[in-house]
Amino acid sequence: MSILSGKNILLGISAGIAAYKTASLVRLFIKAGANVKVVITPSAKDFVTPLTLSTLSKNPVHSTFVDNSDEDLWNNHVELGLWADLFIIAPATANTLSKMANGVCDNLLLATYLSAKCPVYFAPAMDLDMYKHPTTLKSFNSLKSYGNIIIPATSGELASGLVGEGRMAEPQDILSFIEKDVIGKLPLSGKKILITAGPTYEALDPVRFIGNHSSGKMGFEIAKASANLGAEVILITGPTHQKSKHSLIKIFPVISAQDMYDEAHKHFKFVDVAILSAAVADYKPKQVANQKIKKKDSTLVLELEKTKDILASLGNIKSNQILVGFALETENELENAKAKLKKKNLNLIVLNSLKDKGAGFKTDTNKVTIIDDQNMVTEYQLKSKAEVASDLLNEIIKKLDA
Ligand code: CTP
Repeated sequence: MSILSGKNILLGISAGIAAYKTASLVRLFIKAGANVKVVITPSAKDFVTPLTLSTLSKNPVHSTFVDNSDEDLWNNHVELGLWADLFIIAPATANTLSKMANGVCDNLLLATYLSAKCPVYFAPAMDLDMYKHPTTLKSFNSLKSYGNIIIPATSGELASGLVGEGRMAEPQDILSFIEKDVIGKLPLSGKKILITAGPTYEALDPVRFIGNHSSGKMGFEIAKASANLGAEVILITGPTHQKSKHSLIKIFPVISAQDMYDEAHKHFKFVDVAILSAAVADYKPKQVANQKIKKKDSTLVLELEKTKDILASLGNIKSNQILVGFALETENELENAKAKLKKKNLNLIVLNSLKDKGAGFKTDTNKVTIIDDQNMVTEYQLKSKAEVASDLLNEIIKKLDA
């Protein structure tokens, strides 16, 4: 999943030959999961048809202040500008850039530009001498000073037959540029987060195991929220039906507590934050039978031994990492959670109380209290697991900024 998934992208097309490439660009934005609307200058319609763009974007394409194809409809540039999370002007011709730089708004694209409050990107496309002209450079500088972001043109063969700088960046490169820029501005950009999720299965014999009902939902929501805030996520998960396709989440599937321990230790020294939300088995069978255990008439006694405590072991070796644990308590909740935080050398502990309706395993909601190493206790309402993940990450961001 791209970081642009769910974002509203407004694509502004001005009249350059590179406009024919915007059909691919719309397609790429849609594939990335974005909602796309297009505003096109009247002369750009000679290079790419609104029908192509509306078919690909699944939205009407706007070009003039008044749409008289049906009834006379006013195309509201303010609404379009406010709708957009990102406004991308590609291709941006010398004429459009100069008008943008000077506040001219004699077409719908330019009026929308003046109304937009979101980040604006522009991908220049023009012949090499126009690209180098002092007035063009002046436009670039003015636009950059307004906070607009240039997606530089590349060098190569131009429509004029000349070779030089001025080719619009390729659609795939425009997409990658924007994704990278968006990620770079997020609060967890550049941070690496290790997350454990789900249950562990402890083998008894080749066909049986001891497990628990953890669904992995909480851990996967934390992974998603971390990635949406720009973090690179190492998600170590026990057996679960949860899925994630986020481009910033790398999944490491494990089965047993020992597997999870090994995988967590492999990555821990490279991460800034570790959030251990897995429901790790505390005990495992002392012997794993090589063959299926046959039933007998008498009772079966299993001898169990303790698994390694992953959280405590990371607490022992941690240097600057923020370490976060979970606690599921049924009595003396706060006291027990505080004791666990201290004993395992944590920075934060998330307490779930099983007494609360809607909290715990297999539900979509959770009710938590977050306690930090300064003894700050924050009690949250019953919320969706996605919202709990976001509350937790806000606490972590505060710690990282401290
Ligand atoms: N945990 C772990 N490795 C284990 C057991 C637990 O990493 N072998 C982590 C869990 O992921 C969770 C926290 O430790 O973050 C839970 O702490 P724990 O002391 O195991 O709590 P309980 O399982 O509730 O244990 P207790 O019976 O001691 O209350």
